[in-house]
Amino acid sequence: MTYSGGQAEGSVESIEREAVAQFTVHAEAFARAAVVNDERALDVLAGLAAAGPGDRVVDVACGPGIVTCRLAAGGATVVGVDLTPAMLRLAAGRVEAAGCGASTAFALGRMDRLPFPAACFDVVVNRYALHHAAEPERVAAELGRVAAPDGRLVIVDFAATEEREAATAYDEAERRRDPSHVRNLTAAEQQGLFTSRGWRLAEVIPYRVTASLGAVLANSHGPDHAGVQSRFEASLGGHGLGVDARRQGDDIVFDYPLVAQLFRR
Ligand SMILES: C[S@@+](CC[C@H](N)C(=O)[O-])C[C@H]1O[C@@H](n2cnc3c(N)ncnc32)[C@H](O)[C@@H]1O
Repeated sequence: MTYSGGQAEGSVESIEREAVAQFTVHAEAFARAAVVNDERALDVLAGLAAAGPGDRVVDVACGPGIVTCRLAAGGATVVGVDLTPAMLRLAAGRVEAAGCGASTAFALGRMDRLPFPAACFDVVVNRYALHHAAEPERVAAELGRVAAPDGRLVIVDFAATEEREAATAYDEAERRRDPSHVRNLTAAEQQGLFTSRGWRLAEVIPYRVTASLGAVLANSHGPDHAGVQSRFEASLGGHGLGVDARRQGDDIVFDYPLVAQLFRR
């Protein structure tokens, strides 16, 4: 796989191989990251999912099972799917430790080829993963396929700034930290993936999670952390990356612009 300009280039398979490599090395550190553990963000997602006893939920690209666990705690039956076995092992350990192992299950699978029949889930959740999709349209079609006719889709991801130059600069920096990053979509682009497939946008909740660049890099094993650092340094005081990077002591902090969106048919 090669990277050039604003978008990772490579087949679906080569980008998936890169994701497995990255998320195997990163698994434990990723599970501790601020952006995935933020309680307010989990509250937002759980509020949109509104999953309770009797609901069948799939958490697509479930990673270390943080969302799986949160939704199972509300009484739903939740299946987590991920491409990376190391993530599934962490997720299984998490639900056991939380006492919700009996209402959860995990499966190895790809988000654009889910191992389930059509229309079998009341709630389909996909958090922080669309930006890893080589072909987001295929993922959107697949998420919709497994949702019941009256089902709900909850899609949460980084919301790229509409300022294309800054969005491209951020993607380029992010790939130096995580080569499995493909491209952040704007909130409108994410909406279009679903509204063009018969889904109606029911709710949009933008939010931000502040992160320390030092902590993010310390928890990553990317190929060019110096390149990431220099791009963040260069953006200070401006909006060069669209994440409001600013100095805090010896560190740089920035805000992930995120968006949680609920779709219904
Ligand atoms: C940034 S993590 C998000 C994890 C989790 N959804 C959360 O919010 O805590 C992205 C996850 O997507 C998984 N992933 C990447 N590409 C995938 C694909 N094509 N199919 C399924 N999972 C994928 C990775 O293995 C990783 O666990």
